[in-house]
Amino acid sequence: MKADRRIFGLMGWILAVAVLAGAMPALVRGQIGESVGEGVVRFHASNEARDGALPSLCLVTPLAALGPVPGDWAMIPEFTRIQGRTSVFLSIDESTDLYGTGEVPGPLRRNGTRTVAWNFDAYGWGGNAASLYQSHPWVLAVRADGTAFGVLADTPNRCVIDLSLGIRFEADGAPFPVIIIEKDTPQEVVRELGRLTGTMPLPPRWALGYHQCRYSYTPDDRVREIADGFRERDIPCDVIWFDIDYMEEFRCFTVDDWSFPDMRGLNAELHEKGFHTVAIIDPGIKQEMGYHVYDSGDAIDAWVQTAAGAPYVGSVWPGRCVFPDFTMSQVRTWWGGLYGQFLSLGIDGIWNDMNEPAVFNVDAKTMPRNNRHRADPELGGPGTHARFHNVYGMLMARATWEGVQRSRPGKRPFVLSRANHLGGQRWAACWTGDNTASWAHLDYSVSMVLNLGLSGQPLSGPDIGGFVGAGTGEMFARWMGIGAMQPFARGHTGKGNIDKEPWSFGGDVEKTCRLALERRYRLLPYLYSLMREAAETGLPPVRPLFFADTSDPRLRAEDDSFLLGNDLLVACYTKPGQGRPEPVFPAGNWVRVGLVPGDLDDPDLPDLYLREGAVLPLGPIMQWSDERPLDELELLVNPGPDGRAVGRLYEDDGDGYGYRDGAYRVTEFVFDDEMAANVIEGSWEPGSWKLVTRDVSNK
Ligand code: GLC
Repeated sequence: MKADRRIFGLMGWILAVAVLAGAMPALVRGQIGESVGEGVVRFHASNEARDGALPSLCLVTPLAALGPVPGDWAMIPEFTRIQGRTSVFLSIDESTDLYGTGEVPGPLRRNGTRTVAWNFDAYGWGGNAASLYQSHPWVLAVRADGTAFGVLADTPNRCVIDLSLGIRFEADGAPFPVIIIEKDTPQEVVRELGRLTGTMPLPPRWALGYHQCRYSYTPDDRVREIADGFRERDIPCDVIWFDIDYMEEFRCFTVDDWSFPDMRGLNAELHEKGFHTVAIIDPGIKQEMGYHVYDSGDAIDAWVQTAAGAPYVGSVWPGRCVFPDFTMSQVRTWWGGLYGQFLSLGIDGIWNDMNEPAVFNVDAKTMPRNNRHRADPELGGPGTHARFHNVYGMLMARATWEGVQRSRPGKRPFVLSRANHLGGQRWAACWTGDNTASWAHLDYSVSMVLNLGLSGQPLSGPDIGGFVGAGTGEMFARWMGIGAMQPFARGHTGKGNIDKEPWSFGGDVEKTCRLALERRYRLLPYLYSLMREAAETGLPPVRPLFFADTSDPRLRAEDDSFLLGNDLLVACYTKPGQGRPEPVFPAGNWVRVGLVPGDLDDPDLPDLYLREGAVLPLGPIMQWSDERPLDELELLVNPGPDGRAVGRLYEDDGDGYGYRDGAYRVTEFVFDDEMAANVIEGSWEPGSWKLVTRDVSNK
């Protein structure tokens, strides 16, 4: 008896030491599951974990428990907790394909990958970067039979997403729950994610045009030259961007009056020519008495603090900076209030950058994890930067979006943010940061936009042409061709780099860029309709090929092509030289279509194919999105075997909120020998279009 006790005592000690040393995990049994929606279950590690859980920072509203886990529920996670770290594991069938995980390089299909959700200033990032600028602790899983589930790790902390042997989330900090969505299709899972974490607000239509940026267009005459360059060459463009050099020594909310002596006048000129403008605003505020942003922020004690309680100072573009603590609503309101006067200069949209937040000259490239945020109770109360790091950019974007909205209530805000978090699509669009002018990066751009879309963010795109490095004309042309088919289309490049406007690489590349952008502008009515769908349902405009047929295994890993909506297949070629392989097609007769004269003959443009049974509405070529009303439509038709085809078009004023009161129109086009156009929703009556129908099926 004694000996037994000794042996068990010894084993107990060995076990305890092993657990402490991390050799064996401490399995937390008795995880608590509760139904929180139709096909949605939340699991906590234990009763204590549930009772002590911090408020979610990614959900739109807290989810109330509705009852027990349904009896036939299959996906039961296994929780372990060791050394202040929670690990949650779900085993999957070998044939289950994984997607999502947010802004990640590499292939669309994520099986076998490891991602670390930790917002990171990843200048010149490579293909195996585990952390980029945004964090989406979310995985979409599609089973062989096409049914799907999604797993959301509801934690803002640094979170490892290990997909090497199933689905594993591991995060420091307080124990976190996981939310599992179980549906019949991946589309339904993505829609449910939109319901839980929010959908993107409908952007103004101009934001779907082409954007031209560089670090930096300065002085004002250079901006004029760029704008005129588009109009003189008949290359469509809607937006010119102001990068940091418009500021006075990088002080946010100031304008350098040497380079931009009349910013208001410049914007008015640009508006006259059909352009909108977007200006960059970073979170690092120069620590300098007499500078209005520093003084007014300091007056409300707005700054993130060190562990010792003093304002934290880090170095960014303007030198020594303090950083607003966006976890306090008072600070968000103050920050939002700064935009009123700034936007009155005629600036239309805001670009929030460096908001991981990026800090120069420190190894971690960000502020210390033990810095203090004095968060409001709704965000769980005060805590360390480790807890709020991943949501810092999202809360900044939120403060910006709300401030822009308040200062111009009749217009739709457009905000772009480099850092963000799951759910952040409610406040900002996304670009994929400081990429490189390489064929590999062109290739990543396709799968990144796809996975962002599957992670809740429908409005994203890369720096077209690459931020770092020169690249070649061929690469630039190819990139413009593909970028013009993605939701957010902006050319951008770094300081000191070669020029990367559509005409910078000579006549042939310019011609391809013009065709690429003319295609985009012809597609704007369709793209805008898809944006409306994304705003309403969470379904992204850019969709993986397997959405066309979730039971076809050939489509599961396909990321050289994507679907724009359900009806257009975009077949990309992201390698140098010619010799593109034949694309993989979902079942049915997909017909190659030309949208503008000459595009079918340009080998640098992606090929476009129309789905059988679809009607695709095309607008006229315009030089900017509001150049004229949508008064002509060409309807491309690819009738199905029964001779029928159907398509839809959403229209409204392009800005403002009239659509919320019915000032919009959804038209259904039904082709059955003849074309019928039926208004099926909305009461907007802008007049009718001249309709031309083109049957592309060669039947
Ligand atoms: C960061 C941004 C880049 C911008 C630059 C200067 O590197 O990612 O897009 O041009 O800062 O503001």
